[in-house]
Amino acid sequence: MNILIANDHGAIELKQSIVNVLTAEGHTVTNLGVDTPASVDYPDIALKASERFLEGGFDFGILCCGTGIGISIAANKVKGIRCAPVFDLFTAEMAKRHNNANFIALGGRNRYALPVMDIVHMYMTTSFEGGRHQQRVSKLDNMV
Ligand code: RB5
Repeated sequence: MNILIANDHGAIELKQSIVNVLTAEGHTVTNLGVDTPASVDYPDIALKASERFLEGGFDFGILCCGTGIGISIAANKVKGIRCAPVFDLFTAEMAKRHNNANFIALGGRNRYALPVMDIVHMYMTTSFEGGRHQQRVSKLDNMV
């Protein structure tokens, strides 16, 4: 898969660990995040990643900040972006199955109850259900 990833200073290690695994699995990962601890503003990172994603060519994106909250709020203000903060297998599955999220968000300072890659893989291996959910997703896309 062709995957976009971006992060602020709150998730450098998390981002790198995800990049390492996905790359080892043979995926192509484009890193638009920061790699040094200097403080940056997550709305800027979210906007940069969202605009790049909308240019096309990516299967999905991953956004990381300290909590995954701020960067997902920012990304969801961009028309066409559906970013889901996911924190377990159920939310990862539903983010794709029902919401057809094109970004997931994770937090570098969060304490997850399972390996983060299990969450990412659940999202990646789930399919969008369509049907009545397509109607709802279309309404979401018309809101911004
Ligand atoms: C940065 O300190 C932190 O606020 C940011 O990474 C994120 O957690 C915001 O939601």
